[in-house]
Amino acid sequence: MSERKSNYGIETDTITLQRFVLNEQRKYPSATGDLTNLLVSLCTAFKAISAAVRKAGLAQLYGIAGQTNVQGEEVKKLDVLSNELMINMLRSSLNTCAMVSEEDEEVISVEPSRQGKYIVTFDPLDGSSNIDCLVSIGTIFGIYKRISPDGIVTNEDILQPGRKLIAAGYCLYGSACMVVLSTGHGVNGFQLDPSIGEFILTNPNMQCPTKGKIYSLNEGYAKKWSKGVSEYVRTRKFPEQGKSAMGQRYVGSMVADVHRTLLNGGIFLYPGTTDAPKGKLRLLYECNPMAYIMEQAGGLATTGKGSILDLQPVKIHERSPIFLGSKEDVEELISYLEKYDH
Ligand code: AHM
Ligand code: MG
Repeated sequence: MSERKSNYGIETDTITLQRFVLNEQRKYPSATGDLTNLLVSLCTAFKAISAAVRKAGLAQLYGIAGQTNVQGEEVKKLDVLSNELMINMLRSSLNTCAMVSEEDEEVISVEPSRQGKYIVTFDPLDGSSNIDCLVSIGTIFGIYKRISPDGIVTNEDILQPGRKLIAAGYCLYGSACMVVLSTGHGVNGFQLDPSIGEFILTNPNMQCPTKGKIYSLNEGYAKKWSKGVSEYVRTRKFPEQGKSAMGQRYVGSMVADVHRTLLNGGIFLYPGTTDAPKGKLRLLYECNPMAYIMEQAGGLATTGKGSILDLQPVKIHERSPIFLGSKEDVEELISYLEKYDH
């Protein structure tokens, strides 16, 4: 990985995320460096969110927005704070023309004098119900290029299918802080080295194993699943003779559950239910970026009927059922859905 090492056991030629993306971009003579700048701004937001997550208890950032801290200053909830950090960093990068955030009902516009060519969709702090109990949480993001020429950003620019993503990924605030990123040429993982404040390439060319041993979903909704999902889950626990049962893990934070699935293989499911046929997870800033990462790592991501990335969004906060992970596990699930549900 490095060209020179110091004599002191200290890495002197580490590959930072910025250096990695710059190298990638140099392969394209037409690249302007704008995407690198945008990603560097995103990383600044991740570092600030990570710092806020780490000191949330001390700074009284938990709970409901609008409380006051000991200094009598207004305290923002961690997800409100993360949203503001993302918006401010992206806007000041001068590389975005519009943003879609889970926290904002409408598209977030950027004044014409600060516009760039990218549209960023994000969930600033996913898994927010886990914040107060110190469970891993994360930021998810997707980056699209605008289609229309300069001027007013159109619906067509905002509602692009996941196939049109030019980069996507997530930042996991877990026992360590890690960015997992794809710019369309595989998936790479960068861990935050807090001593220098840089994301360092620690997991090059991440590949999702073709088959895994863990299935991951909220079994509390079992009564409301389709027959296909029910049969698939039942046969994970009670497999036919000669096959082993699968283990079950569910953090309830999509970033943590998907990250484990990417590393160890297996399948993550958030199906539709009888009362929520499209499930819970949002297409633009939860399903699409995760599906992009999974496909780039050799895995699959489906709605149950087709690839997540081929879905044409009709509104910014729409939801989709999602099943993603190891290729063979997802294919097996699809065979159950085809047999019992279609
Ligand atoms: P949020 O965006 O409100 O945090 O909700 C999304 C989270 C995901 O991280 C996770 O996969 C899912 O909700 C868990 O939902 P449930 O509690 O229904 O299992
Ligand atoms: Mg979310």
